[in-house]
Amino acid sequence: MNTNVKNELLKRLFEADGRPISGQEFADEFGLSRTAVWKYIKEFEVEGYEIVSVRKKGYVLISSPDRVHGAAIQQYLKTKRYGRHITHFETCASTQLIAHDFAQNDAPDGTLIVSEEQSGGKGRLSRPWSSAAHKGIWMSVIVRPELLPQQAPQMTLVAAVAIVRAIEEVVNIEATIKWPNDIMLDGKKVTGILTELQADPDRVKAIIIGIGMNINHEVNDFPEELHSIATSLKIATGQEINRAKLIAAILGFLELYTSMYEKHGFGPIKLLWEGYSNTAGKRIRAVMLNETIEGLALGISDEGLLELKLDDGSIRGIYSADIVL
Ligand code: BTN
Repeated sequence: MNTNVKNELLKRLFEADGRPISGQEFADEFGLSRTAVWKYIKEFEVEGYEIVSVRKKGYVLISSPDRVHGAAIQQYLKTKRYGRHITHFETCASTQLIAHDFAQNDAPDGTLIVSEEQSGGKGRLSRPWSSAAHKGIWMSVIVRPELLPQQAPQMTLVAAVAIVRAIEEVVNIEATIKWPNDIMLDGKKVTGILTELQADPDRVKAIIIGIGMNINHEVNDFPEELHSIATSLKIATGQEINRAKLIAAILGFLELYTSMYEKHGFGPIKLLWEGYSNTAGKRIRAVMLNETIEGLALGISDEGLLELKLDDGSIRGIYSADIVL
């Protein structure tokens, strides 16, 4: 089975939007027999797609299962580069590990790895990341921006702004950003971002942006210990969310803001980020590996550090911490 051809057939069925796709024409274009095309159709049916065969006209897609296949995402995609190469898994250990491997093997800028489920999803500081099947968006994007290695951590903030904008556009609610990598709704975490770097001393080779979004979970889909700290878009809105559409919107805003960062530096991103921050202006506790400090969060610096005014009046820039509001 050729997965590229199969993916292309699915893409055509989606794009046809209820009109028939000729099996004969598709077979001719890809040098296949009509039987081979029919076999792909049967495989789609086994996977939960409803397809009818209309005599002398071809195949019509009637309904599709809730899956985030390349074809399902690409029907909504308006980008030039991001999401133009998509690899989809029914299950995997971690999209982040696969993305690292792909990036080392020259995967192009904007390559997306997405899985319905992860058995070993990882969060910041190697913490486990709960990734239930079909409930969320578990994805890693490989980006290759024109940035210096020291600018890479700011990509977490670029991604955070892109995600909040995408949620606004697709779901119509306003989430907030808790520095550096949490997207929050109603005081609970709805999304985490894990940004990892492959670089030479003077050049970014690839940045792997891992995004874990809780989407269609009910409360009981989360492990007990997360009930008080995690939420999903469905819990917050009562609506079932179209995951493929949301992924396409995230890729769109990520492409837009990454190129804004490349062209104009961090200034415009910082402004956008501060508009969505729930951290700036609040008294917070920053828990770091070796110490915990308290103070007033002033905002972020031009390098993306969180600036904290301590009780003795001094100002500390923080690279990485867990923030308690
Ligand atoms: C965090 O808040 O700690 C970051 C969580 C990042 C989770 C995502 S899910 C997709 C990708 N694959 C992983 O194993 N982790 C990231």
